[in-house]
Amino acid sequence: MIGWRAPLALAGARWAAKRLGHGHDPEPPPRPAGGDLLGVLPWAAAGVAAGVGAAALSRRRRTGRLTGRVALVVGGSRGLGLQLAREFAAGGASVVVCGRDTDSLDRAVAELTGRGAAAHGVSCDVADPDQVRAMVAEAAARFGRLDFVVNNAGIMRIGPQEALAEEHFRAAMDVMFWAPFHVGRAALDHLRATSGTLVNIISIGGEVAVPHLLPYSCAKAAARALSEGLSAETAGTGVHVTTVVPGLMRTGSHRGVAFTGAPEREYVWFAFLAGLPLLSVGVERAARHIVRAAARGRGHLLITPMARVGTAVHGIAPGLTQAGLGVVGRLLPAAPEQVEERDGVEASRSPAGRLVDAIGTLNERAGDRLNQEPRARRG
Ligand SMILES: NC(=O)c1ccc[n+]([C@@H]2O[C@H](COP(=O)([O-])OP(=O)(O)OC[C@H]3O[C@@H](n4cnc5c(N)ncnc54)[C@H](OP(=O)(O)O)[C@@H]3O)[C@@H](O)[C@H]2O)c1
Repeated sequence: MIGWRAPLALAGARWAAKRLGHGHDPEPPPRPAGGDLLGVLPWAAAGVAAGVGAAALSRRRRTGRLTGRVALVVGGSRGLGLQLAREFAAGGASVVVCGRDTDSLDRAVAELTGRGAAAHGVSCDVADPDQVRAMVAEAAARFGRLDFVVNNAGIMRIGPQEALAEEHFRAAMDVMFWAPFHVGRAALDHLRATSGTLVNIISIGGEVAVPHLLPYSCAKAAARALSEGLSAETAGTGVHVTTVVPGLMRTGSHRGVAFTGAPEREYVWFAFLAGLPLLSVGVERAARHIVRAAARGRGHLLITPMARVGTAVHGIAPGLTQAGLGVVGRLLPAAPEQVEERDGVEASRSPAGRLVDAIGTLNERAGDRLNQEPRARRG
């Protein structure tokens, strides 16, 4: 948030320093001792005041867009969704979060309320269209309006396609394509009434199909088409649709991911990449960008340099990314004869898994901050 405030204050101080150094005066008149310092103080004070004033203005403009508004974050009980709810609430919005697990939902609502937010939780499995419609209706009724609706719920199953069943693809489509479809259908009238924004969290995996993530990539690609199509069809109606394409974010979600095939080996490569600071971005920063884009009704947002480069290269030379991912695919663990399945906490029990967790310490800490499955279960 300091972002552009600091440069303003610095510019004021630098201006003052220039005057102190008599930058424009080759032969400065003699001054009494201490006069330089006294002369520069008003300029330094003006620089700091300009920085502080600009910061306050920026904060007022940001909160101005959110105060009195209502945000529904689907899948807001943990991870990125919880951080988005915190960000909306920090700007003055009331928030409704949903998820299946009532314990983590209750913890999320208690935390948001503890921060002074007006928050409400709805227990809902978004794979069920009836539950989705009831959830959107309850969210709209709770605070009387809906200004932002974020399709954030996601699930991930990692493994080679030979180890995956058709039902795994269907489950991914239910949560990451059909759920946004039903949420959008139920929410659009509410959003039209407030000139609100529907936000769809897609993924770089929906732009470029990633090996061992096929159900996820298929569902995200379909969701991206839905989001961009809705954006085009609602243009000029007052409703905005924001398509968000993040690269890797440190949300600590690897603990809850399902690993199939050779789970311990799948865990190692995935948790390693997800935790690398150079490849992944902090979730707080990502959430700030997303909420700002939603408040401005931006159509598209790419997050992380990797997502920008990946999307651009794939758009220009899809054969090249295909060849590169072919190499990656050959490096990933082959499907074993005996297919096994574990969640991230269990799959991390190998020595290599523990080492990867130690390397990806930022992602581990994010998991603790973001209400993720406790590591203590690992034993
Ligand atoms: N993390 C990344 O690097 C990354 C990168 C690109 C895109 N994304 C996308 O960003 C979004 C958030 O990711 P994340 O890492 O924060 O995931 P996460 O920590 O696993 O959180 C997922 C959220 O969705 C909810 N959810 C899952 N299935 C649901 C269902 N059937 N019904 C209702 N709620 C459900 C979860 O709650 P319950 O489990 O209690 O239901 C949880 O609140 C996802 O759409 C993901 O695909 C993530």
